[in-house]
Amino acid sequence: MALHGGRALLLLLKCARGGRSHFWRDLSPVPKLLCRARPLSSAAPSSLLAGKTHAELRELSAREPERFWDSVARERITWIRGFERVQDCDLGRGKIGWFLGGQLNVSVNCLDVHVAKDPNRVALIWERDDPGTEEMVTYRELLEMTCRLANTLKSHGIRKGDRVAIYMSMCPMAVAAMLACARIGAVHTVVFAGFSSDALADRIQDAECKVVITCNQGVRGGRVSNLKVTVDAAVKSCPSVKSVLVAQRTNHSVPMGELDTPLEEAMAQESCVCPPEPMDSEDMLFLLYTSGSTGKPKGIVHTQAGYLLYTSLTHQYVFDYCPGDVFGCVADIGWITGHSYVVYGPLANGGTTVLFESTPVYPNPGRYWEMVQRLRINQIYAAPTALRLLLKYEDSWVKKHDRSSLRTLGSVGEPINHEAWDWFYNVVGEGQCPLVDTWWQTETGGVCIAPRPAEPGAEIRPAMAMRPFFGIQPALMDEAGQVLTGNDVSGALCIGQPWPGMARSIYGDHQRFVDAYFKPYPGYYFTGDGAFRTADGHYQITGRMDDVINVSGHRLGTAEIEDALDEHPDVPETAVIGISHDVKGEVPFAFVVMKENVSENQEAVVKELRQLVATKIAKYAVPDHFLLGRVSRDSGRGLMFS
Ligand code: PRX
Repeated sequence: MALHGGRALLLLLKCARGGRSHFWRDLSPVPKLLCRARPLSSAAPSSLLAGKTHAELRELSAREPERFWDSVARERITWIRGFERVQDCDLGRGKIGWFLGGQLNVSVNCLDVHVAKDPNRVALIWERDDPGTEEMVTYRELLEMTCRLANTLKSHGIRKGDRVAIYMSMCPMAVAAMLACARIGAVHTVVFAGFSSDALADRIQDAECKVVITCNQGVRGGRVSNLKVTVDAAVKSCPSVKSVLVAQRTNHSVPMGELDTPLEEAMAQESCVCPPEPMDSEDMLFLLYTSGSTGKPKGIVHTQAGYLLYTSLTHQYVFDYCPGDVFGCVADIGWITGHSYVVYGPLANGGTTVLFESTPVYPNPGRYWEMVQRLRINQIYAAPTALRLLLKYEDSWVKKHDRSSLRTLGSVGEPINHEAWDWFYNVVGEGQCPLVDTWWQTETGGVCIAPRPAEPGAEIRPAMAMRPFFGIQPALMDEAGQVLTGNDVSGALCIGQPWPGMARSIYGDHQRFVDAYFKPYPGYYFTGDGAFRTADGHYQITGRMDDVINVSGHRLGTAEIEDALDEHPDVPETAVIGISHDVKGEVPFAFVVMKENVSENQEAVVKELRQLVATKIAKYAVPDHFLLGRVSRDSGRGLMFS
């Protein structure tokens, strides 16, 4: 496409900024630090994992990946029919398949197998918005809820392979909705409840969802959001939607239309038993939309067995999750972190997982630590944005609460700066708990690089992801596309060997999947991130290499924001870049070209532009800064933006 003046200038502006602005992170050498770790959980004596050090396991998983994955898949998954072939992958063609010929049901692995052993074990602790009002849901209760909801979906015409959108706040019903889909072989797509009705509609249309499951309202940080109203607006442009199931999170009654069914009432009519659908290992489990550098968000496809195995293994080994622990991942289920480490990983391991409905500062900045004390949380997994926000307050907000239950601290979603790392490690963990900076992506399914697993007492370096997980083979590429050998090198981060948790496709556009992830470096999966390999072989993520930015740990394509801004009638061109922000990591900055002959009331235009982004995407995507100007051509200096 030919670029006219404004566009060319704005692209130049982007390049002048280095395209991206994530280098706020200090990459200088960091002091070595030893963490006191207790031995990692031990595997069954018959297991391939038993008696081997983590270094030996990592070596085995790299040298004999088939043997490694074959063994862990047989051991950890309850199969309806055993698999015949461990993998059939060709990264060169973007073809990925694991555990072929096998059949399983993910909800059985997350619920029934634990109900059979210990039905009254707590599966979910619903940490509701108001502290001290938590509710426990046992495995038996969650299975019943899941089955009733699965039967309700069936009564609304949902069959194996149909897509169901979930637009809910953090509540047990949302988890039951995901597992109910898994029970009957439907494909869920959870849409973060902060997204606008337009963004929700885009995702529903792309996935052609037949049913939407929502709540009347959401509650977060003492504020109510009208989720049902947003769904009503979205489904107007979604002819595929035949029913909307509405759960009651609050007592507020909402108008119910022709499509709508009160969910709890419908579930009460259904049986609490629902036979699990046998699913092939490679049938779709869910779609999750995420931003890329171009175009609309893409529906990342994850499948059944490989995803389940990978999330359960990483959950256990990265966080040292042991039976009886309370796992506190404070992410929302609208993101991959919530899928993998609030729901699937912990439940596959029979764990007790916290569903956090609130914010880090509600009702005060001690919320996380008061919750740790009250629920006796053993692992807390949070985003650097929240930590950067909390460290601005007095340490007494942390210290007045008993954190002696904590054993592992985890960070995810964006680079963690040294100040946040030090505060988390020293103030929250009192220097006693290993802190794992975990690097991964929606596309990788689970953690790929993290300080653990490692031998007890192994060094953990501040603000560094460090070690590849079992079966992960990182490679750094130079600008010519050649693999960089040796240490003390930086390059494009790729992964050279398939692993079971990796995404399988982009829904409805497999070619885009191949082009985005497998074309740039043939034979490798390209992550979109850059990384540095230190002199002693550890990995440090340096940030995205494309036009994806990370705002408060939320991934956004600058092109998406530009598309929304470009809808303004007086704005022919825009360019958005990320600039650093001391709490949010990055925030969008918009350069806006105004039309020549439009009389300009800058304040009014900015207000309209803000509104456009909030309506088209979400409030968190609204640029913090706008620079409005006009493009002119100066014979001496070329294009001018002033
Ligand atoms: O740039 C990396 C950054 O987040 C991107 C993936 O975003 P998303 O798919 O939304 O998944 C986030 C939760 C897993 C990556 O490409 N990222 C994630 N973890 C880290 C990180 N950047 C630096 N350090 C991390 N630990």
